[in-house]
Amino acid sequence: MKFFVDTADVDAIRELNETGMVDGVTTNPSLIKKSGRDILEVTKEICAIVDGPVSAEVTATEAGAMIAEGRKLVGIADNIAVKVPLTWDGLKACKALTDDGHMVNVTLCFSANQALLAAKAGATFISPFIGRLDDVNLDGMDLIEDIRTVYDNYGYETQILAASIRTVNHVLQSALIGADVMTAPPAVIKAMVNHPLTDKGLDAFLADIKAANIKIV
Ligand code: E4P
Repeated sequence: MKFFVDTADVDAIRELNETGMVDGVTTNPSLIKKSGRDILEVTKEICAIVDGPVSAEVTATEAGAMIAEGRKLVGIADNIAVKVPLTWDGLKACKALTDDGHMVNVTLCFSANQALLAAKAGATFISPFIGRLDDVNLDGMDLIEDIRTVYDNYGYETQILAASIRTVNHVLQSALIGADVMTAPPAVIKAMVNHPLTDKGLDAFLADIKAANIKIV
């Protein structure tokens, strides 16, 4: 499973990247706002740190304007994936940009039918939003499962990018279903390491290291 980190915080990306946990990055207007930085400047910096796809979202809502913004964004670096919303105009922009050979991430996906349209428009990634479905008492995992089934039925190559991940269980469930990619905030990725038995076991080993004065270097 590929791990994308869902942030525009350059320091957090750099730190996780050093552990080999970052196969790509996703940003959105809210994350850019949170960073307090210029979108073009911060995106360029992220692209220089990470080898994999870096999603940068358009601001326009009309297809022609989205395509123009997308063409500007892909000029930042070779690893930009243009992020467009799952609207009819977004699908038009997706088709035009992927026909040009660019990566496109179709975002704000809340149904398998929307995901089917995105695949037919040539999307590189489809981003179903798990957490936001859970927020309205639906099950985000049902959507991941449905999209996996639909894509596998017809051999679509669009990668399922499980997004709006809020918990470590969202990561595990997405992996079990077979999402190709998940994007999560740095805190969620870091929390995946936690296990009380690991802490307990390490405490016992450290006590024995001290008691036996075990040294390696
Ligand atoms: C990533 O591509 C999405 O924009 C992000 O995961 C949305 O997460 P949120 O629902 O927690 O804002």
